[in-house]
Amino acid sequence: MTDFANIKKGLCIGGQQVSLPLIQGGMGVGISLSRLAGSVAGAGGVGVISTAQIGFDQEGWEADPLGTNLKAIGTHVQKARAIMEEKQKQEKYKGRKGMIAANIMVATRFYEKYVREAVKAGVDLIISGAGLPASLPEFVKCSKTKIAPIISSLKAARVILRLWDKKYRRVPDLLIIEGPLAGGHLGFSPESLEHIDMDDYDREILEIIDTARVYGAKYGQKIPVAVAGGIDSAKKVRHYLDMGVDGVQVATRFVTTQECDAPMAYKQAYIRAFKEDIRIVKSPVGMPGRAIYNDFMAKVERGERPAIHCHKCLEKCQPSKIPYCITDALINAAKGDVDHALLFCGANAWKAERIMTVDEVIEELFP
Ligand SMILES: Cc1cc2nc3c(=O)[nH]c(=O)nc-3n(C[C@H](O)[C@H](O)[C@H](O)COP(=O)(O)O)c2cc1C
Repeated sequence: MTDFANIKKGLCIGGQQVSLPLIQGGMGVGISLSRLAGSVAGAGGVGVISTAQIGFDQEGWEADPLGTNLKAIGTHVQKARAIMEEKQKQEKYKGRKGMIAANIMVATRFYEKYVREAVKAGVDLIISGAGLPASLPEFVKCSKTKIAPIISSLKAARVILRLWDKKYRRVPDLLIIEGPLAGGHLGFSPESLEHIDMDDYDREILEIIDTARVYGAKYGQKIPVAVAGGIDSAKKVRHYLDMGVDGVQVATRFVTTQECDAPMAYKQAYIRAFKEDIRIVKSPVGMPGRAIYNDFMAKVERGERPAIHCHKCLEKCQPSKIPYCITDALINAAKGDVDHALLFCGANAWKAERIMTVDEVIEELFP
């Protein structure tokens, strides 16, 4: 039996309450910005802005990507908050509590600067994956900003919990488990993604919840745990809540919404995609990713290498050794040039049939 009380309870993140146990997954580049994040937060969830090349469409970005990106963080946080507050004035959403968060990938060059800028901009929460955010507690010290690492395995959960416990005497405000059906970069080996056993993964989730409970107990705190990856229906939301998870992180379902910041050509690529078009791709970040098979991926597979003009975006990228520039490929996607782009998506993106509103998606997930 579903614990409907769990849905009504919402989600408490580091003492701050949101009305729905829902986090909208951060999506870079330019897919989850202020419009999507503000709309989800206004409905009572956690709206997440991706800071990955967040200033890509601003003047001056080519010459000064770092400075332009940092400036754009403040602009998008302000806009998202304004959208959230406007929506909360509607009768339907009066009294709903949402949160504005930033997704900042650990692999980002100058990660610390991005985190500090997001704190300055007043985000409620910072979510960090694509690497283990070992020093994140230090970067948010003396602020009210909550922090959430994304992990994909029990091993990674243990490493980050132990590290923060020993070094900072604290626990995460939220722990996000990103499973093998997620979109974007994946914390799994390409081999393990060939044979995904979700029952096995559910067992791993239960072990992670137990581990979080032990660390939380040490500090008299409950570490809420959210699960991400392939959650696209009320049935799946219920499945995870019944397992004892506190919230769900959903990304792919929000791409094909009116409010999503992606261009229409990107949204249509999801709607047009068949199941067999969704494949695992090698990314210059050094992790596999999931994307829609297109001309661009076919060229990469054939070893054709587009010209690379380095934007110095990733800490460990070696421009001479990579098959393509991930920033260029993702910016092309964000600009709607979908044939020359990496179209990140979750395993269930092919199920999208039409453009919906954020509210319709949320109503489907939490009927
Ligand atoms: C288009 C797209 C871009 C993404 N970009 C990021 C990102 O920049 N950083 C990150 O941590 N996760 C990223 N993700 C992962 C999502 O935040 C989320 O955890 C995951 O996709 C959830 O699975 P779902 O898409 O099946 O709902 C991305 C996912 C998608 C679909």
